[in-house]
Amino acid sequence: MNIGIVGAGNVGGALGRCWAAAGHSIKFGLRDPRKSEIVDLVKKCGPNTSAVCVAEAAAFGEVVTIATPWPATQTAIEGAGDLSGKIVIDCRNPLKSDLRGLAIGHTTSAAEQVASWAKGARVVKCFNTTGANNMEDPNYGGDRPVMFLCGDDNNAKKMVMKLGEDIGFEMVDVGKIDIARLLEPVAMLWIHLAFTTPLGRDFAFKLLRR
Ligand SMILES: NC(=O)c1ccc[n+]([C@@H]2O[C@H](COP(=O)([O-])OP(=O)(O)OC[C@H]3O[C@@H](n4cnc5c(N)ncnc54)[C@H](OP(=O)(O)O)[C@@H]3O)[C@@H](O)[C@H]2O)c1
Repeated sequence: MNIGIVGAGNVGGALGRCWAAAGHSIKFGLRDPRKSEIVDLVKKCGPNTSAVCVAEAAAFGEVVTIATPWPATQTAIEGAGDLSGKIVIDCRNPLKSDLRGLAIGHTTSAAEQVASWAKGARVVKCFNTTGANNMEDPNYGGDRPVMFLCGDDNNAKKMVMKLGEDIGFEMVDVGKIDIARLLEPVAMLWIHLAFTTPLGRDFAFKLLRR
């Protein structure tokens, strides 16, 4: 699959490396695609990966993942151009600047804001409820970490489930896009546990069933 990734930091870089290893073609969309760390990242990802401007990456992707910090999101989406019909993965959490909570929630979510900015796109909330270290390496000795997703378009969710399975997650569809109002606080719980308790970052949530 052709995947555009806007932003190539912790999350964009981890997803790009793993999807490239799974055989997908990646274009990272950046404000400055020639930065040395981006050149290194592209080398690590292999021959089917390149770094280009945001609009070119977005035009290339059947799936476009937006992996920018929350305050840069609206600008990044505007820079992406026409996203109508595309699957847009929103992995962001609208964190306050001190990381102690979410700047929006309860009656809306980052995902719903993204859907209002990316007109006509099929937005799927996913890859927000665990750390980038787990996206880079979801291996917990045979147990697959859970990755929740939500969105209004069932076909788009199926494609994103496949992309999550490709990199080692158990994918669980939790409903329509407004369920992002619940998924974004789940991310806050992961962040709280990772940064303020002895658990550290090397843990992940798993779903048990009876
Ligand atoms: N880190 C995690 O463990 C984690 C886990 C789950 C979800 N998230 C969410 O994922 C998002 C990204 O987090 P991160 O840790 O990957 O951030 P990061 O490491 O700071 O990377 C952000 C990337 O976005 C790019 N960027 C910033 N503004 C941009 C713009 N206007 N247009 C295009 N690219 C732009 C940056 O590039 P330049 O600044 O170099 O241009 C950089 O490549 C956040 O919303 C976060 O809440 C993070």
